[in-house]
Amino acid sequence: MCLPFGDVMVDRKQSGADDDKAWLSSLACSMTQEHDYYPEVQGHLPAALQGSLYRNGPGRFELGGVRKTHLLDGDGMIQAFDFSGGRVRYRNRFVRTPKFLQEEQAGRFTLPTWTTRAPGGLWPNMGNKIKSQAGVTVVARPNCLYAFDEVDLPYGLDPATLETLGEQPVGAANVRASYKAHTKTDARTGDWLLLGVEFGRRMTLHLAEHAPDGALLRSQRVAAPRSAYFHDWFATERYVIVSLQPLQPSLPLFLAGLKSFTDSMRWRPELGNLLMIIDRSGAQKPLLLPAPACFMWHALNAYEQGNTIVADFVGYDTPDHFVGAQAAFRTLLQGRQGLQSSVGSVRRYVIDLSQKRVLEEVISAQSHEFPMLRPAAALARHRYGYFTTASEGTTVFHDGLARIDVDSGRRDTFSMGAGVHLGEAVFVADETASEEQGWLLSLGLDGTTNRSFLGVFAAHRLADGPVARIQLQHPTPLSFHGWWRAATAN
Ligand SMILES: [Fe+2]
Repeated sequence: MCLPFGDVMVDRKQSGADDDKAWLSSLACSMTQEHDYYPEVQGHLPAALQGSLYRNGPGRFELGGVRKTHLLDGDGMIQAFDFSGGRVRYRNRFVRTPKFLQEEQAGRFTLPTWTTRAPGGLWPNMGNKIKSQAGVTVVARPNCLYAFDEVDLPYGLDPATLETLGEQPVGAANVRASYKAHTKTDARTGDWLLLGVEFGRRMTLHLAEHAPDGALLRSQRVAAPRSAYFHDWFATERYVIVSLQPLQPSLPLFLAGLKSFTDSMRWRPELGNLLMIIDRSGAQKPLLLPAPACFMWHALNAYEQGNTIVADFVGYDTPDHFVGAQAAFRTLLQGRQGLQSSVGSVRRYVIDLSQKRVLEEVISAQSHEFPMLRPAAALARHRYGYFTTASEGTTVFHDGLARIDVDSGRRDTFSMGAGVHLGEAVFVADETASEEQGWLLSLGLDGTTNRSFLGVFAAHRLADGPVARIQLQHPTPLSFHGWWRAATAN
């Protein structure tokens, strides 16, 4: 049951022991109004922060009386925070994909999404009818602002107006793959790496590399040894690494319309992970190396040291917060806590290419997600990783931020306290200071007031808490990923 809260539908179903976390359901409620206003700023806005933070995530979970059943199922909504002249302008706008427009016109959901089947029984769910919602990441490139899903091609956006510009071609012209929402930007060259997936009798990967001016530098097609669902991947100067984790979709069940894509997947830890090390030049065949079973949403970074690859990421022993009838990402939409039995620990693969061996190490066993890197360190050796973190308990909904020095193991944290949710913190470099100085911009939800805010933290002084807090007039649903576009990029 959703109750109106301003323009946002807030699910306030209460159930016993879950009452103290019921406020989290605002992360999965619809934001039906598109805003444009200047929110109140508390604290001190750093003068050097000049540019726009773009964020993407699901913004609509209800239509025509039907509610989605999973946190990953909402239509993509872009939020923009424009920092200029000591003020911040806030806007939100849905990505006008054909799916969004078709259902808007119908006044109801008509198409299946990852977990929520289309209404009407078997027929509307037979075959692959999942369309892009362009609702996972936003990536600013010199030529375009892109909104990515994990289905088909990305959508272009006008960075000034947030107007949807339609599907944008990436990769080789003759390839129709579903490009992963996570892309990699080589900090040395500015080249942009994308990875597409084509499911079929065998899973095929399509790797594409674009120059900063958009030109396609190279592309290759690689057959995977097994089907696996993965969300993010690694790149180094010479390699791309894909972790084929043992979360396997059943295409027969999905295509027959018997199961949603998510519900067709099984976690099979007995199979372990299989790391595919792909030569970016295409000169060598991919190397396949086994590793312990581990579920990864997000990579931090990877780099080469001689003939060794170091790859840091957040890993889980089980993805039960994501798949299954009681998964936390599903029960959140019913206003209750569900399964989330393993923490996202910060882990490292040390891949010895000479010995053909993978060693997995734990850098921090505490709860983390949404790894963020100083962009200038991408594909090179890094020292710091920035994460969301939970101050207590095993939960995928976090209330703090952490900076980990992967060389010394030092972990600096700040918690907003129980009753506050903090999302991914985008790192913005302070061009006037040393290289690891900058700001972390994290979109939070205050459960006490049911209002969202953007916290601005000094990246190297996390323990001081936010230096500024931009107070929105309403809650916003969970925004997965963001991108900073400096004013100098205009
Ligand atoms: Fe992601």
